[in-house]
Amino acid sequence: MKQGELALSPGGVRAVGLLRALANPARFRIVELLAERKDCTSAQLAEELPLAQSSLFDHLAALRESGIVGTSGEGPHRYYTIEPDVLDFLAAYLSGLGQRTRSWSGLVAAREEGGMRIREATAADAAAIATIYNEGIADRVATLETEPRTAEERAAWLAVHGARYPVLVATDADGTVAGWGALNQFNPRPAYDHVVDFSLYVARERRGQGIGDALLRALEGLGFHKMVLAAFPTNKPGLRLYERHGFTLVGIYREQGMLDGRWVDTMVMEKLLG
Ligand SMILES: CC(C)(COP(=O)(O)OP(=O)(O)OC[C@H]1O[C@@H](n2cnc3c(N)ncnc32)[C@H](O)[C@@H]1OP(=O)(O)O)[C@@H](O)C(=O)NCCC(=O)NCCS
Repeated sequence: MKQGELALSPGGVRAVGLLRALANPARFRIVELLAERKDCTSAQLAEELPLAQSSLFDHLAALRESGIVGTSGEGPHRYYTIEPDVLDFLAAYLSGLGQRTRSWSGLVAAREEGGMRIREATAADAAAIATIYNEGIADRVATLETEPRTAEERAAWLAVHGARYPVLVATDADGTVAGWGALNQFNPRPAYDHVVDFSLYVARERRGQGIGDALLRALEGLGFHKMVLAAFPTNKPGLRLYERHGFTLVGIYREQGMLDGRWVDTMVMEKLLG
């Protein structure tokens, strides 16, 4: 059966391609060497590996084709390096599968909240999620993130958000996405399994209508012991919402980020859900 017939998600197709490239001891060892050394020429790799030159070049070509390895320079001065984002993607994708195994499934049921429908996001919501996120990034009220996101990037992000850390969307009656909320892993150490961080974004023209309130209520119902967040002290609607939901101030990181040439403080808040 061909891979296309299996109807893998775009994230799944990419993960399979990377796993195929890595599923060879010589290629795996090349990746390990490049990770240790940061960069190497083929001659330096040949000194370390008991491989015929043609086979070394075949392996390097396969790793380049997969995107795991990049190059700079030419001829004998061509250096091979690892593309760390690619390995990070694979690690995150596999971790998402692990989380799904431990998922608290059944907790994310679509629900109606004050005329809004709240449901788990799908890949088809990626473009709307990116648009709403980009409004929040541009407004400089919500996040230290400054790079706008694309639908493709959000689709890959959705693909690695395991069911234990779902992304929810709030939609109007006609299905338009008006806001989204996501649970984010706080720390991969098992001891932190019961605490979760979250993100909350409402479309600019839909703010102040209770959508953030409904999404936050839904996120609070997903079975964690505690939720934490970091917010700017200037984010009055956000702080009003969090205080109304019973979040309390843990402390303030002074001058935690630099946005548009100005220092920004961030307030850390928490809520024990019990
Ligand atoms: C923060 C955010 C998620 C809240 O969602 P929302 O749908 O607008 O929130 P709600 O309508 O449920 O509630 C907002 C509360 O803030 C209040 N509020 C709105 N504008 C305000 C302002 N300028 N000053 C003070 N309070 C304000 C509202 O009155 C409401 O409180 P109330 O219900 O007690 O009256 C939304 O504004 C948003 O997406 N902002 C940009 C992204 C962001 O800041 N995300 C959070 C990052 S920490």
